[in-house]
Amino acid sequence: MKTDVVIIGAGPSGLMLGHLLAQAGVDAVILERKTGEYVLGRIRAGVLEQGTINIMTQLGLDTRLQTEGLPHDYVSLTNRNKLIKIPVRELTGKHVVVYGQTEITKDLMDAASARGVETIYEAADVALHDIESDTPFVTYHKNGQEFRIDARFIAGCDGFHGPSRKAIPADAATSVERVYPFGWLGILADVPPCAHEVVYASHNNGFGLASMRSNTRSRYYLQVPTDEKIENWSDDRIWDELKVRLGPEFAGKITTGPSIEKSIAPLRSYIFEKMRYGSLFLAGDAAHIVPPTGAKGLNLAASDIAYLAPALISYFKDSDASGTENYEATALARVWKSSRFAWYLTSLMHNFPEDGEFGRKMQVAELDYIANSKAAQMSIAENYIGLPL
Ligand code: FAD
Ligand code: DHB
Repeated sequence: MKTDVVIIGAGPSGLMLGHLLAQAGVDAVILERKTGEYVLGRIRAGVLEQGTINIMTQLGLDTRLQTEGLPHDYVSLTNRNKLIKIPVRELTGKHVVVYGQTEITKDLMDAASARGVETIYEAADVALHDIESDTPFVTYHKNGQEFRIDARFIAGCDGFHGPSRKAIPADAATSVERVYPFGWLGILADVPPCAHEVVYASHNNGFGLASMRSNTRSRYYLQVPTDEKIENWSDDRIWDELKVRLGPEFAGKITTGPSIEKSIAPLRSYIFEKMRYGSLFLAGDAAHIVPPTGAKGLNLAASDIAYLAPALISYFKDSDASGTENYEATALARVWKSSRFAWYLTSLMHNFPEDGEFGRKMQVAELDYIANSKAAQMSIAENYIGLPL
């Protein structure tokens, strides 16, 4: 088989790219290791920036997002039970929308075949070949047979553990990483949320977060040690600890109920400073990981695609290679800034016992400053709603 672009990975970045290319009449094939049901079963991000929404609007796939998504005009932080409610819309004129990654993925998947977005699920052993040439190809296995797809470009949208980044020789790239000394325990439950806005709580017991997927489905997180076992956290223990960390303002409003998903995820910052190598482009988690504080992961994957899709379209439709030449520099500049915000909010809101009492007092003082400074709130607000593309 021959196509213009082979896209590896049918997460949000791969599906968005596939749709944008199809809309412009550029041939692409998406290869995904898992089944569609598996991809849809992964509970991940929930807060969308305007730039991410714009992609869905451009595709004409925002009907459900506009009707079921919850616009948020505020974000709240707490400083040891003291509430700091930041009016992001009043400060920036913009807002974020709560709409789950699973819903975005479903909207993109459901529309795929009608729009000619070819996706091959359960593609095993995906391997990249000749990526430094202008004639790269990808091989994979399905139903016991080997297949080969030739292309002009390969887009590696295959997440942190996929084969695309690993295909780039180690001496051609640098990467930077910070692994945080804790993880997030997440719980999803069919109960109404405790607040209208997302609440990031800084408490001496550790960080807590109250979020939601809808008016009847809540998503909460707790900072836990990296080696914590999920078996140690009954639903009751999670709800009790959330009430403590979110503080009296929210404790009374928390509706408890059985968990429908419960898992622990590690936190890391990782940036691979090579988003293009020969005929291979990397986008989304394949190139960078942010800690989830600030909800930037999915939005950063979408902004990579907002740069990569028009670059590829200009290449094929206008014989203009300037976008593909500039992709790495343009995307990385935004990646660094979003990574900075995720690192900053992580550092501000979590317990770092190794930083001692001095570190804790500095966090308390900074949050107190934010509570009383419009300039500081503005800085958080403009990052939270998403820096311009
Ligand atoms: P992915 O969504 O990872 O998609 C990559 C796709 O590539 C997957 O479907 C995968 O199956 C496929 N793939 C992998 N290997 C291969 C292969 N060999 N061959 C073919 N296909 C392959 N972000 C937030 O903003 N807020 C959150 O609360 C949040 N929670 C998260 C929780 C977890 C457990 C994780 C892992 C991430 C979370 N994120 C969160 C980050 C956010 O979900 C990601 O940034 C986002 O999914 C990135 O999209 P992507 O398309 O680049 O990668
Ligand atoms: C959610 C996740 C985040 O990482 C965050 O900062 C806010 C909300 C969520 O899953 O809803």
